[in-house]
Amino acid sequence: MIEVQELYHSFKIGKKGKEKEVPVLKGLNFAIQKGEIVSIVGRSGSGKSTLLHILAGFLTPDRGTIRVDGTMTTSFTEAERAAFRLSTYGFIFQNFQLMPGLTAFENVELPLKLGGVDRVSRKQKVKELLTLVGLTDVQHHYPNELSGGQQQRVSIARALITDPPIIFADEPTGSLDSETEQDILLLIQSLNRARGITFVIITHDDTVAETANRIYRMHDGELKEGGVTHAI
Ligand SMILES: Nc1ncnc2c1ncn2[C@@H]1O[C@H](COP(=O)(O)OP(=O)(O)OP(=O)(O)O)[C@@H](O)[C@H]1O
Ligand SMILES: [Mg+2]
Repeated sequence: MIEVQELYHSFKIGKKGKEKEVPVLKGLNFAIQKGEIVSIVGRSGSGKSTLLHILAGFLTPDRGTIRVDGTMTTSFTEAERAAFRLSTYGFIFQNFQLMPGLTAFENVELPLKLGGVDRVSRKQKVKELLTLVGLTDVQHHYPNELSGGQQQRVSIARALITDPPIIFADEPTGSLDSETEQDILLLIQSLNRARGITFVIITHDDTVAETANRIYRMHDGELKEGGVTHAI
């Protein structure tokens, strides 16, 4: 589903005229199959978020190609990338990134509202997803009236609302206690099984990584398939 070839990226840091190139991704080659849960592990600063930003089209790589279902997304214009992102990807973040002034219901509804979907279809879809993630009782609560686990469920429902085939999650349980982490990981696994959604999960955490079908390790600018070591 996602095929990456010879992907390179470096950042320029320092004052103008004295910039230094810091290579972060040094020729990645890997693939993610449809319906998989893949985790990407690696030390802080190893380039995991950089890779995710490039996969999602927020950042243009220096070199290399990405194909999604055969479509070369690295050749897209800015507008094409934005449209492709909206229809293909959902996102889950460590800090949930909910809108504080909107209720759980309204947060989940927002992407459909922005997409111009009519009110009746919106309500129906939001209700369905709130039920799926187990939040019907607290749907009218604001984010600061919800627990961390409930907030992450809202953000998962929001990621699902446009039916994206791929969901990127950057440390999705990084702000949760271990019991709540388990609940969220079980929810991700059941969504993967029931809906065939492909998940790409970035994490430091072995427990999280081990819920994946496959683990990739980011090390020295390269990505290799393999088990987790406790050195991370
Ligand atoms: N916009 C930027 N400008 C310059 N350097 C950057 C920029 N973004 C990231 N970097 C550098 O690129 C490297 C990789 O950063 P990245 O955020 O991808 O790491 P990470 O693996 O996600 O780390 P963490 O686990 O701490 O989130 C780091 O050395 C970082 O300092
Ligand atoms: Mg990161």
